[in-house]
Amino acid sequence: MNSTLLKEHPARIADSQEMASAMRSVLGNFCTGVAVITSDSADGPLGMTVQSLVSISLDPPLIMFSPQKTSKTWPAIQRTGSFCANILPADRRDLGLRFARSGTDKFAGVDWQPGLTAAPVLDGALAFIECSIEHVYEAGDHYMVLGRVRDLGEKGPGEPLLFFKGGFGSFNRMPRNQD
Ligand SMILES: Cc1cc2nc3c(=O)[nH]c(=O)nc-3n(C[C@H](O)[C@H](O)[C@H](O)COP(=O)(O)O)c2cc1C
Repeated sequence: MNSTLLKEHPARIADSQEMASAMRSVLGNFCTGVAVITSDSADGPLGMTVQSLVSISLDPPLIMFSPQKTSKTWPAIQRTGSFCANILPADRRDLGLRFARSGTDKFAGVDWQPGLTAAPVLDGALAFIECSIEHVYEAGDHYMVLGRVRDLGEKGPGEPLLFFKGGFGSFNRMPRNQD
């Protein structure tokens, strides 16, 4: 750790509990979409809901998401070497909730088709991005998973599901970016 930098930039919030609570609250102002990360293993399909999906690079094509170190599903996904990010539409918050419940049969009653990497592409997803796992970085209580895009597509028009301040939402009006 660089102590000179720490002296120049001391933390205003010293207590780690208080910092965690401020991080949750303040970062909750950053609205994101919601995706289900899937993969196919010998023991059956795997999935977990994330809001940490980001586009990283176009050349080479890279995306990233961050699983918590406590996730039971992530180590099994990592072993497969690939994943599919299924971006959810506003009317499928049920999928967002279902794939966030640890220890349940997350795929019961969920329809999907295997993608290029055999990872489940969920029926009803707004879009999908299939990746091979390029690198996994340690980052505090999370990992940062860099995926190299192998295939991707849009599955139809629709509004995205949003996540803001700990709750689901959607646009009242779609952004006017196509004029
Ligand atoms: C909207 C939403 C976003 C989430 N985003 C993340 C995330 O980015 N990273 C993560 O590790 N968990 C995230 N979670 C929690 C995981 O979905 C949940 O802990 C996980 O699926 C638990 O199952 P597992 O133990 O089988 O991994 C999110 C949950 C919800 C509802």
